[in-house]
Amino acid sequence: MSSSLEIIVLAAGKGTRMKSQMPKVLHRLCGRTLLERVLRAGAALAPKKIVVVAGYGEDALRKELELLRDQAFLSGIEVEVRVQAEQRGTGHAAEIGLAGVSANAELVLVLPGDGPLLRGSDLQPLAAAVQSAGAELGVLTCLHPNPEGFGRIIRSESGAVEAIVEEKDCSKEQRGIQEINTSIYLGRRSFFAKALPTLESKNAQGELYLTDVVKYAVQNGCSVVTVTSDDTAPVLGANTRHELSQLEALRRHEINRAWMEAGVTLEDPVNTYIDEDVEIGPDTFIGAGTRLRGRTIIENNVRIEGLSLIQDSHIETGSHIRLSCEIERSKVGAECDIGPFAHLRPGSFLWEKVKIGNFVETKKVELHRGVKANHLTYLGDAEVGGGTNIGAGTITCNYDGLRKHQTKIGAACFIGSNTALVAPVEVGSGAYVGAGSTITQSVPGGALGVARGAQRNIEGWAARKKITAREPEQS
Ligand code: UD1
Ligand code: CA
Repeated sequence: MSSSLEIIVLAAGKGTRMKSQMPKVLHRLCGRTLLERVLRAGAALAPKKIVVVAGYGEDALRKELELLRDQAFLSGIEVEVRVQAEQRGTGHAAEIGLAGVSANAELVLVLPGDGPLLRGSDLQPLAAAVQSAGAELGVLTCLHPNPEGFGRIIRSESGAVEAIVEEKDCSKEQRGIQEINTSIYLGRRSFFAKALPTLESKNAQGELYLTDVVKYAVQNGCSVVTVTSDDTAPVLGANTRHELSQLEALRRHEINRAWMEAGVTLEDPVNTYIDEDVEIGPDTFIGAGTRLRGRTIIENNVRIEGLSLIQDSHIETGSHIRLSCEIERSKVGAECDIGPFAHLRPGSFLWEKVKIGNFVETKKVELHRGVKANHLTYLGDAEVGGGTNIGAGTITCNYDGLRKHQTKIGAACFIGSNTALVAPVEVGSGAYVGAGSTITQSVPGGALGVARGAQRNIEGWAARKKITAREPEQS
């Protein structure tokens, strides 16, 4: 924008209707908090500064802002938190925010913190209207077929805006008005500085309403423009968990559609949950019930059968994730074959062509090319060399009750089924471990390590004990 613009985000409310310990603006929609979403929309207008008004859950809100500060969308934008200790209404919050706005800012945009689907492009028409009319105040309004719960826009017979009336203060007639207040305002800093201190709490909720700045403008001859949108979703707030889920469904639909247009097959787009920051390559197949969370990257030609949860992980090209896997903060190399029912916990690093079968759990492991762990295994704090076969039921005993220890298995080893590897321990390249072994000492490369009681067969034992085969007991 040509004139210097700063933004106030109102985020001090508890969000009582969420019935949550967490402030409303920290609830998430497709992987991003409501606060992040509103900040992104505002940041698209390239403001010099954003003042976030915090109150309920201030510490949690500051933590979220710390996490967001390093993200590219906030680069070059100063972010300041101002505290509204007691939530006395949106007008009061805006006044506290205004104290953080720079004295030389010309324009101030006020955004509610709970409008998660707002985009920068939804704000452009308001900015253009205020600029071209040289108005003191601009309000974004919206035509809503079901205006229940919103502030209504009151207009004179000539159509000029006169006031905003909250639903609780509306007459029966006013309740019929379908033009609603979006709670998005853009005005001169000097206007807000005059108007906000005059607000009074003579209303049904006993609060200082930001909406009353319109009445102030009209009474004091300050020019007001309105821009009316008929697209409700971008300007709606998420006040309840139900509203949040409805807005999330809208966004999910858009995200899924965009991925399909980018060449990704979604078996059942209604039941596929892809967070905002996920990346997916073309010709990848994503089965029903898949959840791709956080900063996950799925490369091209990957096949994910479904019902899997993949969080902050990277799956390289050509891999196959069978049904019902959970993969978190892990990397799966190219052409791996995972699952069904595999659990890759944080720090699992798989090179290419690794095979992880059913009921296998990994954590902090590096599995080199072609490692196979096909059944019922736990590999934690371990490195396994290329081509090694881990037999069914192998366990790295990585925890001695106090500390975690490493297991190192070389390349081209064969670890027999039901082996316990008591860490710290090493198995050298090319070594074999006999099935059922409890390995407590390192096995040299190329050797066979066996650590189990030798088998004894006692001839004729059953007859001597007069044990005869019996019919199974009826239960
Ligand atoms: C507000 C508007 C209403 C509009 C609707 C659009 C007022 C009085 N009402 O109602 O006209 O139709 O938004 O979504 O402005 N907040 C504070 N401090 C407070 C109170 C609220 O920071 O003391 C923040 C909240 O955290 C929230 C935002 O202001 O992010 C809006 O508050 P909310 O309670 O959601 O207002 P609505 O009832 O939705
Ligand atoms: Ca709201």
